[in-house]
Amino acid sequence: MASPILAITGASGSLYGIRLLQCLIEQGTEPVVLVSDAGRLVLKVELGADRLSDLVGARGYHQEAIANFAAPIASGSAPTAGMVIAPCSVGTAAAIAHGISANLIHRAADVTLKERRRLIVVPRETPLHAGHLQNLLTLANLGATILPAMPAFYHKPATIEDLVDTVVARILDHLGIEHPMIRRWGQLHEMPLDDRL
Ligand SMILES: Cc1cc2nc3c(=O)[nH]c(=O)nc-3n(C[C@H](O)[C@H](O)[C@H](O)COP(=O)(O)O)c2cc1C
Repeated sequence: MASPILAITGASGSLYGIRLLQCLIEQGTEPVVLVSDAGRLVLKVELGADRLSDLVGARGYHQEAIANFAAPIASGSAPTAGMVIAPCSVGTAAAIAHGISANLIHRAADVTLKERRRLIVVPRETPLHAGHLQNLLTLANLGATILPAMPAFYHKPATIEDLVDTVVARILDHLGIEHPMIRRWGQLHEMPLDDRL
């Protein structure tokens, strides 16, 4: 079975990437993981670990160095099950929108687009200027799914992980991976309508 690619870049919200990685492993995929240099820094600032294996465990995924342009995923001839960039910095979004392959994350995303595979971009920045918005529009026009790190609150999340999982569940939906993570709208309605309003 082809593996999905997960890239974690230097935007805030590294927990999105870590939770997604845990879920992908739980669902039986063996993701190829790429972490940018800034992604590593933000992981350390936000989650207090500079090694992915300290957060996730050593098994169930394969990490590739972002300078390794000889990696299989740098070529369209290697099959993959799509790619997610979560969180995605506006810098990485700009590079991909303009076809700049300065590291393996950019290159793998470019390959994903040219091979017409699923590319899911999870941007995190606020506010956004017109250049950021233009780059995201360019990516959408190239076939990427723009899935902003905008958690939902109607599940009444009690923890940060609950909140993060509202985004992670939508990413898994768009990757076509089944998961038991959240109850969906329509399954939330045990309560009488009057109590909900
Ligand atoms: C703690 C921290 C938080 C950051 N948060 C964001 C962010 O939310 N969005 C963003 O686009 N860049 C953010 N940055 C800046 C990026 O890390 C920086 O632009 C970097 O060059 C991105 O490189 P990359 O796309 O290769 O990971 C943050 C940096 C630090 C140190």
